[in-house]
Amino acid sequence: MELAHRLDQITPSLTLSIAQQASELRRQGIKVWDFSAGEPDFDTPLPIKEAAMRALQAGKTKYGPVAGIPELKQAITDRLRQDYNLHYSPDQVIVTNGGKQALYNLMMCLLNPGEEVIIPSPYWVSYPEMVRLAGAEPIFLPTTWERDYKITPLQLAEAITPRTRLFVFNSPANPTGSVYSPTEVAALAQVLENHPQVWVVADEIYSQIIYPPAVHCSIAHYLPDRTLLVSGFAKAYAMTGWRVGYLVGNREIIKATAKLQGHSTSNVCTFAQYGALQALTGDQGCVAEMRQAYAERRHLAYKFLSTTAGLHCPLPQGAFYLFPDISQTGLSSLEFCERLLREKQVALVPGIAFGADQCVRLSYATDPTTIAEGCQRVQEFVAGLLALQPQ
Ligand SMILES: Cc1ncc(COP(=O)(O)O)c(C=O)c1O
Repeated sequence: MELAHRLDQITPSLTLSIAQQASELRRQGIKVWDFSAGEPDFDTPLPIKEAAMRALQAGKTKYGPVAGIPELKQAITDRLRQDYNLHYSPDQVIVTNGGKQALYNLMMCLLNPGEEVIIPSPYWVSYPEMVRLAGAEPIFLPTTWERDYKITPLQLAEAITPRTRLFVFNSPANPTGSVYSPTEVAALAQVLENHPQVWVVADEIYSQIIYPPAVHCSIAHYLPDRTLLVSGFAKAYAMTGWRVGYLVGNREIIKATAKLQGHSTSNVCTFAQYGALQALTGDQGCVAEMRQAYAERRHLAYKFLSTTAGLHCPLPQGAFYLFPDISQTGLSSLEFCERLLREKQVALVPGIAFGADQCVRLSYATDPTTIAEGCQRVQEFVAGLLALQPQ
């Protein structure tokens, strides 16, 4: 059976095999300490659910405008202004099926075969695949734990060629939890000032999950005309299954993405958009409460992993992931994760999925008891590996 050639370029998710093995263990009645999910363990706050239920009861069950209901687009611009002092008008917004579709729409509307997209590595799994689906080429900029997995302005400057069309900037980052400081963001923006052909996509889906003293700084402040901002409701409001996100920026690009979306998915589920509207316009206390819970869990998980001989684990400033370097164990990330699951029943995600085979990802969006017991098991596992290594 011959499928379309565009699929030859992309690889299935490497995270799947560990997830399948973990669910097989669970099916056999074996307890698994699971740190693999990239989603909040909290339920969506009740006022948001109630707003969606009210919308359903009020008959908000029809097709809507492709780019989103006007009230939600307005609320998105209001919040960006209030929270980050970013100024947009509603015609610069498209509501999408999650941040994922915002990114996909953008890549499809902006990229041509032969063009290059610069992606700091480790990266969120779908960036390179989307770039390839658009026929363009991902150019990776490697980073290490010693520099908190952040690129330097020099790295960016050296990677730009006449074929560079887009720079993907994700802060706070998945999988590393790294947050670029305002000074670091300004320095990267300064490099881009000299290259007006390069667009920037700022994936800010974790912007509200950030731990003081770190602050969120959007690159859109420095490059307002060339930045396309992606965000969504999945992470900050625990709404992963609702599939609501958005893309904000240049009107012509937004119009193009609406054209594409009009022929693919059309509008995002109408009553889900009313839930999202409540999320943005209601009391933001739920976001702060979840952030506080993540902050405590981050310290708990970090306490274990940073004191584990054989691991190097920077303290992340945002999102809900730890990304320890496991090179000293001598195992590939897949071997590490498969053996950890088999021998200690702990599920992590192999770093190879994010372009970093020397690392593994632990999501601490889970309860503190699981974190304490699971991390202790990781410690025991690594100690066992190191004891076996020749001195
Ligand atoms: C960095 C990053 N960007 C985008 C997304 C997509 O989010 P959504 O669920 O809104 O499509 C995710 C989800 O894991 C993510 O981690």
